[in-house]
Amino acid sequence: MHYLKSPMNYIGNKYRLLDQIIPLLPSSERYVDLFSGGLDVAINHKATTVYCNDINYHLIEIYEAFQKIEYDELVARIEFTIKEYGLSKTNSVAYKNFRDYYNNSKKDPLDLYILMNYGFNYQLRFNSKHEFNNSFGKNRSSFNESIKARLLPFISRIKSYHFSSLDFRNFDFSILKKGDLIYCDPPYTISIGSYNDGKRGFNGWQTQDDLALIEILDDLSRHGIRFALSNVLSHKGKVNDVLIDWSSKYTVHELNSNYNNSSYHLTEKSETKEVLITNE
Ligand SMILES: C[S@@+](CC[C@H](N)C(=O)[O-])C[C@H]1O[C@@H](n2cnc3c(N)ncnc32)[C@H](O)[C@@H]1O
Repeated sequence: MHYLKSPMNYIGNKYRLLDQIIPLLPSSERYVDLFSGGLDVAINHKATTVYCNDINYHLIEIYEAFQKIEYDELVARIEFTIKEYGLSKTNSVAYKNFRDYYNNSKKDPLDLYILMNYGFNYQLRFNSKHEFNNSFGKNRSSFNESIKARLLPFISRIKSYHFSSLDFRNFDFSILKKGDLIYCDPPYTISIGSYNDGKRGFNGWQTQDDLALIEILDDLSRHGIRFALSNVLSHKGKVNDVLIDWSSKYTVHELNSNYNNSSYHLTEKSETKEVLITNE
C-alpha cells in the first residue's frame, strides 16, 4: 500500500511504520492527533474531521501558513527565496545569512520552512530564546524535487484540518464523541529525541507526562472514545514500567521496527520494543 509522505522529514516521524499502524486505526468521524509532529500519521488516516495538535507552535504555524497559500504560489515563493539567498547544499554562508535574517525578522513561518530544509537533519531546533539554531545540513539537506513533489498532496490534504499548539493537557477533549479516535505519539520517556530533550525551548518529557497522558486516555476510554498510543516499552536495556503495567488493561500490538534488513540495524533495532496500544 502506498502512503503519503510528509514534506517535513520530521525527526521521530512514523512513516516507516505506517503499514503496521494505519490498518490498526479504525476509521472515525472525528480524529485527533494529539502529538502530530510531521503529520505522517494524520495525512494517511481517513476521517471526516481532523484535529492536529503539537506543542511546537513554530511547526503548527508552518501548517497554518500552508493552509492559506496555493501550491504554485508556495513553490514560487520558496524558489524565489532560495535564489535570493543563494541557498544550496554546499553554501554555508548563505544558510547562516538566511538564518540571521529569519531570527531578526518578524519570523514568517514560510521562511522557517525554507530554512528548515537546509538545516542538519531538517530539524526545527531553537535555543531557549526561541531563536532558530540548527546547524547547516552540509551536502545533505535541501529543498529537493522529492520534497517539492510531496508538498502538493500534503497542502491539499491539510487544508481542512484544525490545528492547535497546546500542551496535551490543555487540549479540549470535549470535542470527542463516542466512537471517535484519538492517536497519540508522544515523546518516549526512555528514548530521547531532539524534540524532547528539554534543551530546545520546550520542556523535556518525563514519567509524570506519561502518567498525565494515560489518565486522560483512561477517562476517554470510559466515555467510549477509541485511542491508539504509540510508544516503546523497552529500549537499549531501559524499561518503561509505568506503561507496561498500564497497558495490561488494553491491547498491545507489537510492531516490527526492524525497518532495515542489514544485520547491523537488525541488532540495534531489535533492542527496541515498539508498540501500538489500543483500547479495542
Ligand atoms: C514522536 S513526535 C510525533 C511524530 C509524528 N507522529 C509524525 O509522524 O511525524 C512527538 C511530538 O510531540 C510533541 N510534544 C512534546 N511534548 C508535548 C506536549 N507536552 N504536548 C503536546 N505535544 C508535545 C513534540 O513537539 C513532537 O512533535
